[in-house]
Amino acid sequence: MRKKIVAGNWKMNTLPAEGVELARGVAAGRGEVNSDVTLIVCPPFTHLAGVIESLNGANVEVGAQDCATEAKGAYTGEVSAAMIAALGCKYVILGHSERRQYYGECSETLNKKMEQAYANNLTPIYCVGENLEEREAERHFEVCKQQLEEVVFNLTDAQFKNLVIAYEPVWAIGTGKTATAEQAQEIHAYIREVLRSKFGAAAEECPILYGGSCKPSNAGEIFAKADVDGGLIGGAALKADDFLAIGKSFE
Ligand code: 13P
Repeated sequence: MRKKIVAGNWKMNTLPAEGVELARGVAAGRGEVNSDVTLIVCPPFTHLAGVIESLNGANVEVGAQDCATEAKGAYTGEVSAAMIAALGCKYVILGHSERRQYYGECSETLNKKMEQAYANNLTPIYCVGENLEEREAERHFEVCKQQLEEVVFNLTDAQFKNLVIAYEPVWAIGTGKTATAEQAQEIHAYIREVLRSKFGAAAEECPILYGGSCKPSNAGEIFAKADVDGGLIGGAALKADDFLAIGKSFE
């Protein structure tokens, strides 16, 4: 049985105290979500310590939204994987399309970040996905394959066993346009096939999350698909009730 995961990517939203409030709301409703669903919140770096403290004992995991390519040293403004792991984070989102698009993150950068994540026992949530132009040109399979080959294929078998993939079509992020459940299933199955070609049967165990305008009203239909193992949630993760409702959307 693959792990079911609902992860909230708060992006650059909420002030620290608001983040703690939001985390408390998620913790308060955790019991309503089936215990076989892993809930993860990914606040901004500045909120991590406070959020982790407020979640104490609540069975809600915490992830960071990024980490540095280097272990430590003279890298002004960067936050290392060791720093976030020391706070109690278990996960780190890497390769989000916003980082690729606005901060020029390429596979070379992401390989270094993945290495830092594993060196500090963090589970990467590695994001792939095509933009609108690529989808319209029917290049979405090719784009996702390349994003996997250039980064995930460099992992060892042991590292691969500790990986979460998120498929996030850029045209569906924050736009209110969701991929249909059929579109999600089609590409999730393809992603799993690509992973199988490199890692064999271990690909069956790798959680593949859908992200892009996922909300309580559409999560159930998407999560019901065979190769969709949960979601990476942006906007709807900023309201505890919506986030929890998505957590309850598995059949
Ligand atoms: P939205 O749910 O706001 O579309 O964002 C998705 C996302 O980018 C999560 O990482």
